[in-house]
Amino acid sequence: MSSERGQFSSRFGFITAATGSAVGLGNIWGFPTQTASHGGGAFVLVYLVLTFLLAYPALMAELIIGRHTRHNMVGALPQLTTRPALKAIGRATGLYGVLIASLILSFYAIVAGWLMAQVPAALVNITGQLTDTNWFAQSSLIRDSLFCALFSVLTAAIVARGVKDGIERWSTRLMPALVLLMLGLVASVLTLPGAMEGLRLYVVPDFGLITDPGLLTSAMGQAFFSLSLGVGTMLVYGSYVSKTDNLPLTGAYVALIDTGIAFLAGLLIIPAMFVAQHRGIKIYSSENTLIAGPDLILQTLPELFNSLGFVGAFIGLIFFLLLSIAALTSSISMLEVPVTFALEQFKISRSRATGLVASVIFSISLLILFNFEQLFGAVITATTKYSQPLLGVFLCVFAGWVLHRDKLLGEISEGFTDVEKSLFWKIWPGYIRFICPLLITIMFVQHIVN
Ligand code: PHE
Repeated sequence: MSSERGQFSSRFGFITAATGSAVGLGNIWGFPTQTASHGGGAFVLVYLVLTFLLAYPALMAELIIGRHTRHNMVGALPQLTTRPALKAIGRATGLYGVLIASLILSFYAIVAGWLMAQVPAALVNITGQLTDTNWFAQSSLIRDSLFCALFSVLTAAIVARGVKDGIERWSTRLMPALVLLMLGLVASVLTLPGAMEGLRLYVVPDFGLITDPGLLTSAMGQAFFSLSLGVGTMLVYGSYVSKTDNLPLTGAYVALIDTGIAFLAGLLIIPAMFVAQHRGIKIYSSENTLIAGPDLILQTLPELFNSLGFVGAFIGLIFFLLLSIAALTSSISMLEVPVTFALEQFKISRSRATGLVASVIFSISLLILFNFEQLFGAVITATTKYSQPLLGVFLCVFAGWVLHRDKLLGEISEGFTDVEKSLFWKIWPGYIRFICPLLITIMFVQHIVN
């Protein structure tokens, strides 16, 4: 079986693909806007702690199950046990993961379509035709559907080429471009008047806010979404990792790079908001909170870029290019989940599986677009707020309780010979059995009760 499956060609290949999955709209859009609406530095601090306390251990659970079973999530979990009841639970969990990954992609492609449309919009601005009739800049059902379709086709085209020639190749091309574009943007925004005020809000924590219960759940949800956890993405990527790789170390790189890029994005967006304020653009909503969500990215920031003339149009172009790239390296990892499932369960070819699955997901995107008010927010809440943490609990339980301890140790020791003496092995197994599921559950229940 494993010889027919794809594999990443090197550790670097895996790290770029996995960070490509992790780094997406969650980092560049979600993290800065959550930070802005939860008291700046306080949120950053809690986020960092939760990432290493909860999200990194959960990431390891997925990578280990994936590499151990060499299967997609639906095939993988039942393989960890011989007990029929547990097998059935494993299968159901896997199917739930595949469904959620597909639903996340269905709304992600809509948002990515909005952002991609801003690229030609910025080009129109650069050529000097600054008019209200910039079709690309304004949302319309037809524009949104077309760009969602374009984004879905790009995603499918990469996934159809397979692990090494599609996912790995494109991630290693796009990720360095993303980091360079981001560094350039941060450097230019920080020189503009007003930026320092934003920087202060971002890095100085307001400790009074740290006990706010909404802050904890938001930070946890953000950490899970950002590391692509729960839905089997990291599990599938883990199933393509070579047995000679040191998994705990590789996973730590992924978590560190993901967090680093989220932090960098905050250095860009929050100062940019205060630059906008300095130029007379409104950045607080009527409830006196910082504008977040689509209004920030699709209105406030474009207004800022427009107010900066030619240079601004250019910054806008790079900014939206950056967001589109980040979205693409994440969307391919979401599509990979149902595609590997279809491929391994129904024994069809990769291109066929990709075409089929991508068409179904695009139809769901259209359904959401045409019933936007009713569906868009509801799908996001159901998938990211509820399902991802819940699936995270199941995956931790499977790694900690169902996968036999000897097998667990055997799996981690591949590529990491002295694992038994390591700090990782002293802490992680207990963590994944007790602390992770318990903490996630508590926060989850607390969230529902509130
Ligand atoms: N981690 C991605 C982001 O930050 C989103 C994602 C979620 C990707 C789930 C794959 C699976 O945007």
